[in-house]
Amino acid sequence: MPYIREIIKDGHPTLRKVAKKVDLRELNDPMFQQLIDDMFETMYHAPGIGLAAPQVNVSKRLFVVDLDDEEGHGPYVVVNPKFTTIEGEIDSIEGCLSVPGMIGDLKRHERVVCSGFDRDGKKIELVGTGLFGRCLQHEMDHLDGILYTDKAQNIRAAVTDEEKAALAEVEAEGAALERNAEVATASA
Ligand code: NI
Repeated sequence: MPYIREIIKDGHPTLRKVAKKVDLRELNDPMFQQLIDDMFETMYHAPGIGLAAPQVNVSKRLFVVDLDDEEGHGPYVVVNPKFTTIEGEIDSIEGCLSVPGMIGDLKRHERVVCSGFDRDGKKIELVGTGLFGRCLQHEMDHLDGILYTDKAQNIRAAVTDEEKAALAEVEAEGAALERNAEVATASA
């Protein structure tokens, strides 16, 4: 049974380490499969749309993402992810489960292609644009010991009702505000 792990917060040394590459033989270890299940459980409970292993104090190169949208952006687990293509630049507003209650503005690439392995060791490739692409970049940064706050400007508490609603909804791994804006537009 999957269980909810503690999400460590900014200031914890594990968040600042460059995570270790996963030996694919580890995928045969039930404890590693348990880690993946627990990461999904922890992300959904938070709630969030992405979670990297260092955030549950495991310094290994894997993350989970699930936008739970109609385009089928997840659920995915990516082991030993690598960007094979990075293109363009876009504005992003992000928060992080390891930096609760805060948001900030930063630049991300507009499009990334991410290759890696799934939980069975099968090669996968994800093409990320928009929120999905930004989420992939946010999670990849966690594997390199980088927090969005290192790159962001105007880091601030989410104070408006709209911002708070956004954080409560998906805790902004990637950009909850965008999703919230879409909801607002749809109901206007
Ligand atoms: Ni994060």
